[in-house]
Amino acid sequence: MKKILVTGGLGFIGSHTVVALQNKGFEVIIIDNLSNSKIEVLDKITSITGIKPEYVLLDLKNKIDISNFFKTHEIQGVIHFAASKAVGESVNQPLKYYENNITTLIYLLQEMAKNNINNFIFSSSCTVYGQADVLPITEKAPIKMAESPYGNTKQIGEEIIADTTKVGNLQAIALRYFNPIGAHESAKIGELPIGVPQNLIPFVMQTAAGIRKELSVFGEDYPTIDGTAVRDYIHVVDLAEAHIVALKRLISRNNKNKMEFFNIGTGVGTSVLEVIKAFEKVTNKELNYTIVARREGDITSAYADTSFANKELGWKATLSLENALASAWKWQLKQE
Ligand code: WQD
Repeated sequence: MKKILVTGGLGFIGSHTVVALQNKGFEVIIIDNLSNSKIEVLDKITSITGIKPEYVLLDLKNKIDISNFFKTHEIQGVIHFAASKAVGESVNQPLKYYENNITTLIYLLQEMAKNNINNFIFSSSCTVYGQADVLPITEKAPIKMAESPYGNTKQIGEEIIADTTKVGNLQAIALRYFNPIGAHESAKIGELPIGVPQNLIPFVMQTAAGIRKELSVFGEDYPTIDGTAVRDYIHVVDLAEAHIVALKRLISRNNKNKMEFFNIGTGVGTSVLEVIKAFEKVTNKELNYTIVARREGDITSAYADTSFANKELGWKATLSLENALASAWKWQLKQE
């Protein structure tokens, strides 16, 4: 049976997608260089699905290794998560981000073309829109000047793939994630931030767990419902399902263009203070936070118009913010 290659499959979104793929009967092989993940996740996936995914320790910066990999595996499609994703770090280390996110994408696409592998799902981000002029954000919203090298690598990545689909047999779907949060209900896999969490939800969880003294809320002078910034927080399990639907669309050639883009969010905007209130309600715990200045580069508000994904993909987020926060808290409590 041909396999589905998941690059970065031991990471946060990758591991949840591997579980969803296996649950749908796909045979999965993972490539991961463990730069931002742990090998223990492999056994956790196995304990959830009962099937141990094949795993290859491989860095996509090594073109020869990729070439050898495709010589020894029959691959039906690729879901590409492997990339660096810290916005702040990308500002300080742009070349690391361009090398790790762009060069590896080029090598991967080159080797896929050599082996006639033509189904490609790309992990993109709503960050390509910057601060959209119109909310909710549709896939037709203009792509704005990237706010960070990280965001730029997503924009450049989409363009590289789109240009490649114009000349060869490649069929691709870019999924533009809004804000992925939460964890699998088993609490066996979840977000594993390294060092001080940059993202809101892991910082909330570590504050509530007493690992961090208090949460800094970055600004309350935005033109929003309560002055704090608004985002579209989507449960990682819903996000994983979107990858399965997109992959099946390509395999069955139901895609209407050789490159398609879908906004993957809930369609609901939630402010930072609303997240905090929801967390306190779900856990019955009071969160220690303080309001500080805005974070450089943050936008005011971003939430998805999901009608295209709902209609064309036949996919819709089903899990609530409360469910996502409860699952993230259950996961946090399992961390030693
Ligand atoms: C969410 C909101 C912060 C931390 C980024 C990337 C995006 C994706 C997700 C990779 C904002 C506020 C945060 C804190 C806070 N990354 N916040 N205190 O910036 O929307 O998106 O991460 O795929 O591509 O752009 O997510 O979780 O960092 O912030 O007040 O300690 O929470 O200001 O309003 P963001 P985030």
